[in-house]
Amino acid sequence: MAYLNDNYLKLKSGYLFPEIARRVREFCEKNPESAKRLIRCGIGDVTEPLPPAVVAALHKAVDEMAKRETFRGYGPEQGYEFLRTAIAQNDYRSQGIDIADDEIFVSDGSKCDCGNILDILGAQNKIAMMDPVYPVYVDTNVMAGHTGAANEGGAYAGLVYLPCTAANGFVADIPKEKVDIVYLCYPNNPTGAVATRDQLTNWVQYALKNKAILLYDAAYEAYITDPAVPHSIYEIPGARECAIEFRSFSKNGGFTGTRCAFTVMPKSLMAATSDGRFTSLHPLWLRRSTTKFNGVSYPVQRAAEALYTPEGKAQVKGLIEHYMGNAQVLRKGAKAAGLNVFGGVNAPYIWVETPAGVNSWQAFDRILNEANVVITPGSGFGKNGEGFFRISSFNSRANAEEVARRLQTLKW
Ligand code: MLT
Repeated sequence: MAYLNDNYLKLKSGYLFPEIARRVREFCEKNPESAKRLIRCGIGDVTEPLPPAVVAALHKAVDEMAKRETFRGYGPEQGYEFLRTAIAQNDYRSQGIDIADDEIFVSDGSKCDCGNILDILGAQNKIAMMDPVYPVYVDTNVMAGHTGAANEGGAYAGLVYLPCTAANGFVADIPKEKVDIVYLCYPNNPTGAVATRDQLTNWVQYALKNKAILLYDAAYEAYITDPAVPHSIYEIPGARECAIEFRSFSKNGGFTGTRCAFTVMPKSLMAATSDGRFTSLHPLWLRRSTTKFNGVSYPVQRAAEALYTPEGKAQVKGLIEHYMGNAQVLRKGAKAAGLNVFGGVNAPYIWVETPAGVNSWQAFDRILNEANVVITPGSGFGKNGEGFFRISSFNSRANAEEVARRLQTLKW
């Protein structure tokens, strides 16, 4: 008899975005006329084409693959040196942050890395995460058997939830209890909040004191507009000893369909063995990568490298300005509709409070049915997301303007 992984049966419902897609499909089938004017501001998927520097690099790399002399087969599992150097140099060393090339691990996505990291962490860790939260952090821990069952409200036994509410500016407070692993995501998905240098310093000090590890998801760092806000956890002294950083080319270079990201695993980051000895996690992550992964394709890594050229950087800046321009339009529209609005200043997500008496899924249905706009219900991100919805700025300007207009036509 073959047994399945029972932990999967603990998962509350389908993954949030496929569930939204299912509901939207159903709506479109039933309402073909409304479907024609549907605007999607749900999943944070980019809409603008790849930057020209990336397209040129892709073409060139494909041509190399077409010739015997320049063809490449398996590459290094942890990424080609040319890309690891470009990342370490441009994202870290040029900012005064000490990260070596071989501390960069190139992958096909931050979502995958956030789940894969659990392979090298012990099952006995006490794990804390923000609420609302990017569902991948929770679900991958459930799948790995790190939790008990979910309660009525969808919270899993064994996890420590850190409430992020309007009262704390959607930035998690340091827990009173001792935890071993903390997921932090700034700029935050879904709330669009950012953590200040002082707040991140408190987290690093907490982690060092408790020998805990911070899993720092910085997938949206390119959207930070406030110069005082840190882009990397390694801007904080001591973070090399307690933090792993996840970054992605999805939202800056428009790589959601192209797939490339990276994880920073400092060699100085230690964790305890079950008999209490401290040892570096870097060789474990390397071992995992070389055993379970064959690397990102050569053309895609060349494409990612192109993002670091002067033209690539200018084109990324243009993309960010475009999406952040949308964010301003959407913020203004939602405010003009009388809604209470957060985020959208250092992040591409607008976090909107639902009108009194309307819950997140009711808001989703109303906005879908009456404005033909797809948003993401806040409760899909956790208990503290109830009473909110998220609007994604990833769209054309014309669509952002139309959504801003339609929001104002809703009579709550
Ligand atoms: C989102 O909409 O939250 C993002 O697209 C999720 C992701 O990047 O995986």
